[in-house]
Amino acid sequence: MIIAIDGPAGSGKGTVAKILANKLGYLYIDTGSMYRSLTYLVLRDNIDTNSEIDIYNAFKNNDIEITPDSKNLLNGEDISSKIRTEEININVAKVAGYPTVRELMREKQRDFASKYNIVMEGRDITTEVFPDADYKFYLDASIDERVRRRVKQNEEKGLESNYEEIYESIKNRDTSDMTREYGALKRTTEQIYIDSSNMTIDEVVEYMMEVIK
Ligand code: DC
Repeated sequence: MIIAIDGPAGSGKGTVAKILANKLGYLYIDTGSMYRSLTYLVLRDNIDTNSEIDIYNAFKNNDIEITPDSKNLLNGEDISSKIRTEEININVAKVAGYPTVRELMREKQRDFASKYNIVMEGRDITTEVFPDADYKFYLDASIDERVRRRVKQNEEKGLESNYEEIYESIKNRDTSDMTREYGALKRTTEQIYIDSSNMTIDEVVEYMMEVIK
């Protein structure tokens, strides 16, 4: 079984996918964290973000993994707490835009499905990684709502946050995720579209569970 979920930054797909996977006893895979791990490696090793071949080689020569309990490993080291920085937010779109990098990433992502039942979320999962997934969802929310959620998350973590800055950061990421030539986030008629702007997490999960049943 493959359940694929795509959607923009801050749409809640990570939270929803995790709960869904838990309920179903499936493996949860956050593909954004794989692109983030690679971006972490690129920045750590001062690899030129303009060089597709250098990034591709770094990816080939290092071991980027997700464990079944969602830890991000780089050559065995747990880097989960280091991949959600603003520096990575800014650079990840560029790294994720290279076709050779995306192809290698997709191979890794497809490997999971040969071993497990999965709930996988990202930007191109319903369209490119698993176009024949059993269920395909597009989880959306208005940009204002997504910014509000991010501000709330930051407050809960005790971090200061500036509404305008977060708005700009999410808007820029939307633009690069939706307009890049390879692996752009797209809506299709095959996806089940959910606008979660006025829904709670539980309502979204419940709706998805009904569809799956
Ligand atoms: O889901 P996220 O915001 O953590 O993802 C980080 C970035 O990774 C996102 O801005 C674009 C990229 N990404 C991608 O290109 N393809 C995916 N399947 C998942 C994420």
